Amino acid sequence: METPVPLLSVESLGVEFRTRGGTVHALEDISFAVGKGETVGVVGESGSGKSVLFYAVLGILDAAGRITGGRAVFGGLDLVRASAADLEEIRGREAAMIFQNPRVALNPIRKVGHQIEDVLARHTSTRSSDLRSRAIEALAAVRIPDPERRYHAYPFELSGGLCQRIMIAIALACSPSLLVADEPTTGLDVTTQAAVMDLIGELARERNMATVLITHDLGLAAEHCDRIVVMHAGHVVETAPTAELFAHPRHPYTARLIATTPHAGSDLRSLAAIPGYLPDLRRSDLPACRFSERCERAEPACGELPLARLAAGAMHSVACRRPL
Ligand SMILES: Nc1ncnc2c1ncn2[C@@H]1O[C@H](COP(=O)(O)OP(=O)(O)OP(=O)(O)O)[C@@H](O)[C@H]1O
Ligand SMILES: [Mg+2]
Repeated sequence: METPVPLLSVESLGVEFRTRGGTVHALEDISFAVGKGETVGVVGESGSGKSVLFYAVLGILDAAGRITGGRAVFGGLDLVRASAADLEEIRGREAAMIFQNPRVALNPIRKVGHQIEDVLARHTSTRSSDLRSRAIEALAAVRIPDPERRYHAYPFELSGGLCQRIMIAIALACSPSLLVADEPTTGLDVTTQAAVMDLIGELARERNMATVLITHDLGLAAEHCDRIVVMHAGHVVETAPTAELFAHPRHPYTARLIATTPHAGSDLRSLAAIPGYLPDLRRSDLPACRFSERCERAEPACGELPLARLAAGAMHSVACRRPL
């Protein structure tokens, strides 16, 4: 496989949250890239930092959060150092995110057609007389039946699957080159899940749009992604092309995830087979390898800096002192 031209390149990114209970070391030394038109899965247990990673990249961390270092280069611009105005511009136009819960993310008291128009008006030079037809086109593009009628609907009048399509329509209204889809199918029934995933895949191919799929579901990532980034407790522990990751997982955590994901639809939240818990990220004595306390292969040095980083192939890297 050729290395794709990077669209987004994250290097050594760190994030912490100041809380009353102490500083949460949410992300440490995160590096990975997303190529143009590529589909990358970001997987890991609840609390591993998947959402926070992309909030940090897109400049939407909440006030308690702080980027402690690193870069996130997108289209030649380091988003970590970009102005609020530049970030706002990029979020609307070049990089869009769909959030974990579409009903919460949509404005409940505004017609969905108008919500699409808001984005078009803010981020494109669409003439006001054309906004309505462009919004209806955007609804049609996400295969919403009867878009002229749905234009007038409020979110509460629509099913979960339709709300998710509206979110996708809003995200794609300005034809971004990167779509970050955070658990886009959570809360949808299995048939609707498959339809939403297929839609995202089709739209991404039609538009040569890079997609990041954030999910608990390794099977879902395997089905839809070219490459997978595995996160554990705020670290990237392994990155590899999907087939390679499944055939030759090198990090003991990845191997565990694969062993406990017998089929698409298995949910990492309910998997009991991975021993122990994520460490408390407020600890000041976190071990260098944050999996070491759960790992049967660990040796004392695994807890000590520096964290080992090995290239296990041209596009395969693993953060482990004792890889498989
Ligand atoms: N506002 C905040 N204040 C303090 N800690 C936070 C805040 N937001 C996130 N965190 C912490 O950052 C870590 C990563 O959270 P994040 O939401 O990114 O996990 P996730 O992998 O997306 O989980 P899930 O799969 O449940 O969505 C967690 O330990 C979480 O408690
Ligand atoms: Mg999340």
